Amino acid sequence: MILPGPLDTSVQAAAAALRRGDLLGLPTETVYGLAADADNDAAVAAIFAAKGRPSDHPLIVHVAEAEAIDHFAHSVPAWARALAQAFWPGPLTLILPRRADRAAAAAGGQASVGVRCPSHPVAQAVLRACAHPPAGERVVWGLAAPSANRFGRVSPTTAAHVRDELGDALLVLDGGACDVGIESTIIDCTRSVPVLLRPGAITRAQIEAVCGMAPRSPDEVAEGATPRASGTLESHYAPTARVRLMDAKALQTGLDLLGSDAAHLAIYARSPIKARSARVLVRRMPDDAGSTARQLFATLRALDAEEVKLIWIETPPDTPEWEGVRDRLRRAAS
Ligand code: TXA
Ligand code: MG
Repeated sequence: MILPGPLDTSVQAAAAALRRGDLLGLPTETVYGLAADADNDAAVAAIFAAKGRPSDHPLIVHVAEAEAIDHFAHSVPAWARALAQAFWPGPLTLILPRRADRAAAAAGGQASVGVRCPSHPVAQAVLRACAHPPAGERVVWGLAAPSANRFGRVSPTTAAHVRDELGDALLVLDGGACDVGIESTIIDCTRSVPVLLRPGAITRAQIEAVCGMAPRSPDEVAEGATPRASGTLESHYAPTARVRLMDAKALQTGLDLLGSDAAHLAIYARSPIKARSARVLVRRMPDDAGSTARQLFATLRALDAEEVKLIWIETPPDTPEWEGVRDRLRRAAS
């Protein structure tokens, strides 16, 4: 069931459901999440079951404010607090050493926990209602929430996408289309230096400017086991159609070869592309990375719904602001 997210009655109903251990489709500024009380292991188990996700893949815990870090984490480095201070509420997840008795199932058994404070007003309202309940009711300190898609599929960026993925029995708050459109930047803060586990709207340069250290990539810091991150699996965020990435020239050449026979094919490109067959769907990719991120998953979903067999996508520019979009496209194509 989809309820209008901004209404206070919806927020209160959602918070009550979460306190009972039920699941909620929650809008955030990045993508929609499938949320449950992070300290309720049975509720968290229901998330893994609904998604069809292996239960050793850790979930991100969403909090109302930075102070809640200390409920879930310990030994937080000063530079990690500086990142929270600079970018929260917002699309940044920090991986921190986990307090042994907190969010165990949500963390998938890891000794670490991912924490994020989202900026979406509906997410904020629900998190605050959870953290400050009516007298006598259970305090919910954080909401474990992976993206509200089935495992391996494209993340939802509207309430209707969540219903399409997980069914109408789930309570979903409608917070409109997500502003950022791709998942949060993830920084591992459990080592002496920041490690970028997943690129997103917040760039390496922004991280470096705040903590004074350039984020490393996971393979540069091979000491110790790298935590399992399903967002870092090679094939992820995949639509049903096969996705190919290529430059504009290769794309045009391929189309010219197929000529008027081309069918069951969609193009998503920034450069002007000419198809000789009217059965080829051509979608224009915006010129800037932010607008492309905002519409990326909805575009892949819409093309999938047209039942095309192939989606050819023009490789985005190799510049820092496109890193998050390039990453999701590379995974969709593998
Ligand atoms: O923007 C987002 O981050 C969205 C919204 C809903 O907040 N959430 C999201 O969650 O993308 P999910 O579960 O689809 O992706 C979270 C990623 C996964 O790749 C997971 O493995 C990784 O974060 N992660 C979570 N906790 C971790 C931990 N303790 N150590 C390493 N990776 C972790
Ligand atoms: Mg996901």
